[in-house]
Amino acid sequence: MNEQQETEPADPRPTRRTVLKAIGIGGGAVLLAGTGVVGVRSVRNGVWDVGEGDPWALWRGWQDVPGTAALAAAGVLAANPHNPQPWSWAVGDGVVDLHDDPTRAMPLGDPDGRERVVGYGCAVQNVVQAARARGLDAQVQAWPDPADPTHVARIALTPGPAPDEDAQRLADAIATRHSNRGPYRADPVDAATLAALAGGEDLGASVVWVTDPAARATLGALYVEATEAIVADEPMSVEAFSWFRDDRAQVERYRDGLTLDCQGLSPFMLAAAKILPAQSRAAGDAFWVKSTREVHTATAAAYGVVAVPDVRAARDRLAGGRLLQRVHLAAEAAGLGLQHMNQIGERIDRDRALGASDRFADRWSQVLGLPAGQALVSFRVGHPVRAANPSPRRALEAVGV
Ligand SMILES: Cc1cc2nc3c(=O)[nH]c(=O)nc-3n(C[C@H](O)[C@H](O)[C@H](O)COP(=O)(O)O)c2cc1C
Repeated sequence: MNEQQETEPADPRPTRRTVLKAIGIGGGAVLLAGTGVVGVRSVRNGVWDVGEGDPWALWRGWQDVPGTAALAAAGVLAANPHNPQPWSWAVGDGVVDLHDDPTRAMPLGDPDGRERVVGYGCAVQNVVQAARARGLDAQVQAWPDPADPTHVARIALTPGPAPDEDAQRLADAIATRHSNRGPYRADPVDAATLAALAGGEDLGASVVWVTDPAARATLGALYVEATEAIVADEPMSVEAFSWFRDDRAQVERYRDGLTLDCQGLSPFMLAAAKILPAQSRAAGDAFWVKSTREVHTATAAAYGVVAVPDVRAARDRLAGGRLLQRVHLAAEAAGLGLQHMNQIGERIDRDRALGASDRFADRWSQVLGLPAGQALVSFRVGHPVRAANPSPRRALEAVGV
């Protein structure tokens, strides 16, 4: 289905799609007065209390969770692709165990689990940073039980040094780090700041930064093309849409997935989008392509690519994920916005799974100066125009803590 055409008869009741169109196009589509749905939907959809309620409670309260369980709570707050939170946790005396939950998967968007394992690395790193801030040393053992591939990591805790300023800053950022999909300001992020984001700890991965304007433009065009290819792939689009939680009732029920709050909209447009009727998958896809072109790539100050020896190796994925989360925490502590952007890698993996010819690996590799087999995941950074909203999290009891 295509985006609504200008020739369609005017509907007196504005749809969320017309509002989303107005975000980039302008043109008076936002007509809230007199719709009659405002009062009901605005309350039902949580217009006025963004981030308040049980699905967001951990952001405010992870530090207050008693004992070692607080460290698992920090892990739950990590970035994870599409926010299915595909894990369960076990907390013992001086140990935190992370297990895979195979029921929460995206087999089309992430066919061989590259992003999934990167997300586990993110969770592990949040646990490590939380432990350090509590004066604990955290030893990570990846896949500790060869007989149990679902046992992703064991994090053993022993008394360690008192946290230094850096450890404290990174742990403080656990509660305020969010994926920021809004616009970033035009001013660049200097090279020293970028280098500092990825420095400080050798985790077996590194970050390749893309700051040169011509390279950024080439990469930006590649992201847009990959996004268009994803939305044109109907089964992949349908799978992604199944993780979109459209309204407050769904968020309260599932406490996972992607929400309107986290799309980087201005407060006004967010309120409008929540009040108006839900958008279709096609409208959501069109919005994603448009945002990728006009906001995400247009305002990226720099792109970062996590480089590892072998993107197919599970241990490299976990290591890359740990670095990714560390960078995100450091970016948050430095007042920078960060948005993960993985359309290119997703398209490469999906085409491979389909047996289709690869359209992106060579160009991706060329612009990065890195073999595609070493480019694990990528993101943009910049000075954000506005703060990002928190995404929901499942209750600790629901994930075994
Ligand atoms: C490996 C990985 C890949 C991701 N890819 C994307 C992406 O391509 N686009 C995007 O907007 N967010 C992406 N994300 C961000 C997740 O959607 C986000 O972490 C999740 O929704 C939870 O939100 P939060 O990061 O604000 O806590 C990715 C995250 C991870 C860990």
